[in-house]
Amino acid sequence: MGDNVNKARIVIGSPARGLDLWDREDVIREIWSALERDNVLLVAPRRFGKTSIMLNLRDEPRDHFKVFYFDTEWMKGPEYFIAEVAAELAADSDLKQFLSRSGGTLRGVMERLGEIQLSEFKLKFKEETARNWQEKGRELILQVSGHKGKILLVVDELPLMIQRMSGEDKNVTRDFLHWMRSLRQMPEPGNLRFVIGGSIGIEHVLKHLGTDTKVISDLRRIKVDPFSHDQCRDFIRVLLSNEANLQDVSAALLQAFVDVLQTPVPHFVQILVAEAIREAEKQGRQLSPEIIHKAYSERVLASYNRTYFEHYYARLRDYYAEEQGPAKALLLGMAKRGEMTRSELWNAYQVARGGGGSEDDFGYLLFDLENDFYIQYSVADGVYRFATKVLRDWWLRYYSVVK
Ligand SMILES: Nc1ncnc2c1ncn2[C@@H]1O[C@H](COP(=O)(O)OP(=O)(O)OP(=O)(O)O)[C@@H](O)[C@H]1O
Ligand SMILES: [Mg+2]
Repeated sequence: MGDNVNKARIVIGSPARGLDLWDREDVIREIWSALERDNVLLVAPRRFGKTSIMLNLRDEPRDHFKVFYFDTEWMKGPEYFIAEVAAELAADSDLKQFLSRSGGTLRGVMERLGEIQLSEFKLKFKEETARNWQEKGRELILQVSGHKGKILLVVDELPLMIQRMSGEDKNVTRDFLHWMRSLRQMPEPGNLRFVIGGSIGIEHVLKHLGTDTKVISDLRRIKVDPFSHDQCRDFIRVLLSNEANLQDVSAALLQAFVDVLQTPVPHFVQILVAEAIREAEKQGRQLSPEIIHKAYSERVLASYNRTYFEHYYARLRDYYAEEQGPAKALLLGMAKRGEMTRSELWNAYQVARGGGGSEDDFGYLLFDLENDFYIQYSVADGVYRFATKVLRDWWLRYYSVVK
């Protein structure tokens, strides 16, 4: 770590890149090391910094990988994905040369790239692959596998793409997932790796699609954690110095930030620091624990963050079907009490189901709530809690009649 580590500025909304990316070295190293052998599924709740990490893989590649990043959220079908991959690979001059030398049907397509714009290329390629995307896509990957360099395809927001596609055609969606898995399992492309991630839990999306998790079971799951309290304090110290010119901030003040956040989700660390600075300016006073608390409860938990939180609420309606009511009852119980044991939750579940409900269904519900990042189980304490304090605080404030 050089001096540059202290240059981070507040970034809200866009991925944090370059000097603004705060200390994700451990997980980034873990990913590169996993890629020696495996493909990776990057798992974390929304706004924990997955995209920032994925872009870092591309911005600062290691182990001689060429890295390509794809945001797949907007894609409507496999041919979109394949066209994007082809276009990105072909935009790399070294790969383009290689692909146009290598023969096969892709050759002509690649050669045309010299004459037409990339966007036009994508469009044409997409049209041409719409009917036989499995074959064409596989051919592309096989050709790439002949290249001696290592290639990493970073696929962001895959669960959202799957969700969108399954609304159109469930069969094609299932085929696409199997096709992707088959690519990862091919013996030939020893030089090709994938990092897959997204902002919603993929398991639930697969369940909805009626596909078992076998299509992703080969992926090495790597979790992105919130910042540790130490990381959080260091980060805030740097942000306060760079954004408010505050030097030598007291330990007590830093602790006040940590106390309010408890689970330092990077996004909310940024928002809280920005809002605390603004609140102090507005009051014309120095930053204090009181101002930090006020900034949290009046600004962080305020309606401009609503889309973030409401996403969680809306997902219950869209994805939990008849378990929506029980899910809400359990979440409210945990929000109010802070934590609940499995048997306390089971009792609450039975009440919510009007005395019915099987233990199996209950088990699945907890499993889904955990994989969708609402709650987490603490093995040490044997209890379930909200995955982040900020989500719990929001739940209490907006979804509870009596606190
Ligand atoms: N390492 C980091 N250093 C500093 N800020 C970060 C870091 N990671 C994330 N952030 C903050 O969190 C926000 C969200 O980051 P990012 O888009 O990478 O998260 P994400 O997990 O991909 O989110 P989503 O689930 O919505 O796709 C950024 O705008 C930034 O404020
Ligand atoms: Mg993201």
